[in-house]
Amino acid sequence: MSNEQRTVSEEWAVEAQGLVKTFGNNRAVDGVSLNVRAGSIYGVLGPNGAGKTTTIRMLATLLKPDAGSARIFGHDVVKEAQIVRQIIGVTGQYASVDEALSATENLVIFSRLLGLSRSEARQKAAELLEEFGLTEAAKRPLKNFSGGMRRRLDLAASLIAQPPLIFLDEPTTGLDPRTRNQMWDTIRRLVKTGSTVLLTTQYLQEADELADRIAVIDRGQVVAEGTVDELKTSVGNSSLQLRIQEAQDIARARQTIERVLEVQSAVSAEGGIITAPMADADRVTDLLIALRDAGIPLAELSVQKPTLDEVFLTITGHGVEDEVKGDSEKVKEAAQ
Ligand SMILES: Nc1ncnc2c1ncn2[C@@H]1O[C@H](COP(=O)(O)OP(=O)(O)O)[C@@H](O)[C@H]1O
Ligand SMILES: [Mg+2]
Repeated sequence: MSNEQRTVSEEWAVEAQGLVKTFGNNRAVDGVSLNVRAGSIYGVLGPNGAGKTTTIRMLATLLKPDAGSARIFGHDVVKEAQIVRQIIGVTGQYASVDEALSATENLVIFSRLLGLSRSEARQKAAELLEEFGLTEAAKRPLKNFSGGMRRRLDLAASLIAQPPLIFLDEPTTGLDPRTRNQMWDTIRRLVKTGSTVLLTTQYLQEADELADRIAVIDRGQVVAEGTVDELKTSVGNSSLQLRIQEAQDIARARQTIERVLEVQSAVSAEGGIITAPMADADRVTDLLIALRDAGIPLAELSVQKPTLDEVFLTITGHGVEDEVKGDSEKVKEAAQ
């Protein structure tokens, strides 16, 4: 049973069609379809509550879909759940390692369970601890580990088995930048050595760094899908943010922006900030002249790389912040 044979024999690591999961009357996942090519890194990008974890749980056989279907390397997640479980790894599943044991001991035990000899297991554990910068902490019991250290140990454990498909649910959320970079390197290494990775993230930058293709998910639906470059082009290479002095000028300002930049603009809910994608930051000069000619005084203007907020605003017409409000409104409704 070689991982290589498995990944090479199937072109698609994941083929999901119309997955649905409803909690009460909340359609957490509302018809998600996605295809992940074997040997690639696939990013599922979306804000809190978008349905990322629920999607992964269905793909990992931890939750039964209400509708739709999914195959992992050709095996149905419902009908062939046992087989699927043998070819996937989900980070978090090794969180049950023994708290009283050290990091080394945990990794050695895990390696032994996977059939490595005593000396192989020792060597593997040492290699992984070194790679994850955990050597100094290796002898300490796990209960003294920080969250970031645990996360790294968790990923180290999944490297021992090296399953053909690895699900990483927000692997770097809350990590400091140095640890995040280490995680990224490790994820790239996993793929170089033959695994396929499906990861979820709230960070455009992370998807940008790692993913070959991305699905943007919002309110349980895939709202955009493509390579990083395709996604970026759809929101422009730069993002314009503009606040104007007089609220009554907003409509005219947007018309001017849309005419000069030949794009769709959006207005944030609270601040009256107009945002628009820009293919080319140089065009801001033309825009400034046009706004002056139209007699629209500006309060503030900036041109930035698109952030996840702008990707969202552009693709969905609402900001990531709205999701949070949406949730608290749902809570209020539920309370009534
Ligand atoms: N076990 C559950 N029971 C009820 N509601 C859930 C459960 N799991 C998730 N949800 C709801 O489903 C939606 C999607 O959640 P989730 O998949 O965790 O999103 P994400 O991982 O993108 O933050 C949210 O509104 C969340 O509150
Ligand atoms: Mg989640």
